[in-house]
Amino acid sequence: MDEYILEIKNLTKEFPGVRALDNVDLRVKRGEIHSICGENGAGKSTLMSVISGVYPKGSYEGQVFFKGHETAYHSVKDSEKEGLAIIHQELALSPYLSIYENIFLGHMQTKFGIINWDRYIKESNKYLKIVGLNEPPETIVSKLGVGKQQLVEIARALSKKADILILDEPTSSLNDDESEKLLDLILEFKKQGITSVMISHKLNEVLKVADTVTVLRDGKSVASYDVKADKLTESRIIKDMVGRDLTHRFPDRKSQPGDTVMEVKNWTVYHPDFHKIKVVDDVSFFLRKGEILAFCGPMGAGRTELMMSIFGRSYGSRSEGEVLINGKKPDLGSCRAAMNAGLGYISEDRKSLGLILIQDIKTNISNASLGKISRFGIVEGHQEMLVAEKYRKDLNIRSPSVHQMTRNLSGGNQQKVVVSRSLMADPDIFIVDEPTRGIDVGAKSEIYSILNDMAAQGKSIIMVSSELPEALGMADRIYVMNEGKIKGVLTHEEATQEKIMHLALVN
Ligand SMILES: Nc1ncnc2c1ncn2[C@@H]1O[C@H](COP(=O)(O)OP(=O)(O)OP(=O)(O)O)[C@@H](O)[C@H]1O
Ligand SMILES: [Mg+2]
Repeated sequence: MDEYILEIKNLTKEFPGVRALDNVDLRVKRGEIHSICGENGAGKSTLMSVISGVYPKGSYEGQVFFKGHETAYHSVKDSEKEGLAIIHQELALSPYLSIYENIFLGHMQTKFGIINWDRYIKESNKYLKIVGLNEPPETIVSKLGVGKQQLVEIARALSKKADILILDEPTSSLNDDESEKLLDLILEFKKQGITSVMISHKLNEVLKVADTVTVLRDGKSVASYDVKADKLTESRIIKDMVGRDLTHRFPDRKSQPGDTVMEVKNWTVYHPDFHKIKVVDDVSFFLRKGEILAFCGPMGAGRTELMMSIFGRSYGSRSEGEVLINGKKPDLGSCRAAMNAGLGYISEDRKSLGLILIQDIKTNISNASLGKISRFGIVEGHQEMLVAEKYRKDLNIRSPSVHQMTRNLSGGNQQKVVVSRSLMADPDIFIVDEPTRGIDVGAKSEIYSILNDMAAQGKSIIMVSSELPEALGMADRIYVMNEGKIKGVLTHEEATQEKIMHLALVN
């Protein structure tokens, strides 16, 4: 048997104006866990799309060998037939179908044109057990959180008898706990002989599970390491990714919070469908001028719901309590009203709530601040371009120009556009929900610097973050939530990872 289950030679893939992959080589050993690292836009997702047939033979140059023969896939179906399964960066389930329908969609067998549903419900139970998802197979997928949806995707891959799994940033939307479970699952698959290729920006996870790491930079494969034999470290990977050392992952900052600018008192929010359930339960907190607050807690703690219910009442059937801004009760009844009151918001879900994918970068950046670039009610195109161009440079949005459709950007670069838009709106109080999700280490520290600068200018920031190091590195104070309630608050000086976990889970 060949040592390598997957081999790529001299792969080049171009899009109009962009060489996404430039002579890439990759060799994945049978049965190993192989991680691909690289900055946003380095070409990771594109590489996986070539391997799995999303980009058909003929649309790229070079060769892909799978199980010893050269492939010529015309669609994902072709690669699936040979035992290759890909789980994309953005989840691709059908939200209004059930778990079992999603698992078997597209590969059900019929007898005289009839599908034996019972059989598939039973069989899906088998796969749900393997991935550790404890939900009835009839559950509609949109009712599941992202973590659980991820498990459905994996169950689907297993049901197709995949012997190589490609996972594009599988843990980017998961909290620590869920991530760990998922990584354990991948390790378990390895024991059963399943090969995994995992793309991730979380380098600690990479080093924990990977046998081999390949680094892409600007579409080129620049290095490949045997994690154990080469004693691979995070800083080595970063150096290869970025092309230089990155010493300050959390830039220093002197914080001098001033007076209270926002106060939330006894805030309770009821579930949008089940009107008696409290999703946010009697929450009170305050925010000072120039302060960065972090909200931590396990998934489902109610952090996003809390922020959305404040910003334009975007969540919940109704809410009780008070939100004061500079001592007054402003109208926050719609997103527009909230923006007029000086609030800004970055949503954790860039796809459904953030970007207009069929529009270009500059339009997406400017569309929350048209007043700033208009004269007599008309948008000044040149001005719009200049501003967008500035953010493209500051945040290193990788794209030939600001005229590029956001749909064509890599996941992390899309996130940078979302961040730019809110920065341009320049709110006094900036609520950011998982602002650095899917963003590479270099661009992360750029975003941290910008948030720090905003705070230094007297703006205030509320950050919902599932990455504890980020909260610890950035925040003046950390509120810990669970089950819709605030369980405690820690200052920058007293906060540690253990204390946060303890507050969230005990008592
Ligand atoms: N359909 C497309 N049309 C034009 N350009 C594209 C298209 N898809 C990707 N690109 C470009 O190819 C490059 C590589 O993108 P890719 O999505 O592979 O990056 P990535 O390494 O996965 O990044 P991230 O970490 O942000 O997910 C980027 O410059 C991107 O803008
Ligand atoms: Mg990607």
